[in-house]
Amino acid sequence: MTTYWQQLRRELPQWVEESRTVSQDGEVASYIPGLASAPKDALCISLFGIQGEQVHAGDCKLTFTMQSISKVFSLLLALLDSGEAGVFSKVGMEPTGDDFNSILKLELVDPGKPFNPFINAGAIAIASLIEGETPQEKSMRMLEFIRELADDPTITWNEEVYQSERDTAHRNRSLAYFLKDNGVLQADVEDTLEVYFRQCAIEVNTDHLARMALVLANGGCNPQNGRCYIPKHYVQIANSFMVTCGMYNASGEFAIQVGIPAKSGVSGGILAVIPGKMGIGVVGPALNKKGNSVAGVHLLGALSERYDWSIF
Ligand code: DON
Repeated sequence: MTTYWQQLRRELPQWVEESRTVSQDGEVASYIPGLASAPKDALCISLFGIQGEQVHAGDCKLTFTMQSISKVFSLLLALLDSGEAGVFSKVGMEPTGDDFNSILKLELVDPGKPFNPFINAGAIAIASLIEGETPQEKSMRMLEFIRELADDPTITWNEEVYQSERDTAHRNRSLAYFLKDNGVLQADVEDTLEVYFRQCAIEVNTDHLARMALVLANGGCNPQNGRCYIPKHYVQIANSFMVTCGMYNASGEFAIQVGIPAKSGVSGGILAVIPGKMGIGVVGPALNKKGNSVAGVHLLGALSERYDWSIF
């Protein structure tokens, strides 16, 4: 009898090739110059199961920066450092319906607290909660956290993408100064932005994302080495935010069409979690109008339908 994983392994290359064709409907992000050279029609997916199963298919040598996927892990590190009360004194728990870098609602609510930790304003506020004496120390703690969860001590920053974002981040600077002015950000603005830009520039592959997602699928513990990194309740918080806000303004559509917690980034990466079953990493640099990997979302939708992944 063919097992679930044997079937996945056999069918996956074909699903990847079918989804790759929709890459032409998207565009690679270019507002950060260092991202613009990514190969438009590349596509890779890695699936890591709770029992140690591993399957991947497509252009899996491709590395890319975490970008907004890092917001899941800065949230978790901030929860570990500052607790729930500390985190939710800085950010809310609700989706906005606005663009990820919007400043709009910061002026509409009092005291201008960002609606959630996955919009840029929220992630910048969260970056200020990571413990460390200097921005370098905070960034290093964030990198070490990713290295541990992905079980790879060689993971590091892409310096070109980091510089490129730092030099062009006028919108993020304005968000951070706005937060400083209304008292949500107590730390130094440029120091906080340094931590945020560095976390976005952590370079990974889809296997790394799948392994990190597997920890989230398994209640905060790596099922292979048995080590627990994150309390289960914090994992529940992160997974909940991924369902409600993880795919920007397409989170509702993604919940209906795919039905699993996921977080995307502008480099075309998607980290997805099937609780109790597996962790998934995807990359496809061409983005749809909502800023999500067009081929990646297509592929996850097709696989979810085929393998009945929806948690709903
Ligand atoms: O803030 C930025 O522009 C990027 N470094 C991260 C953006 C991203 O992936 C989209 N976020 N929600």
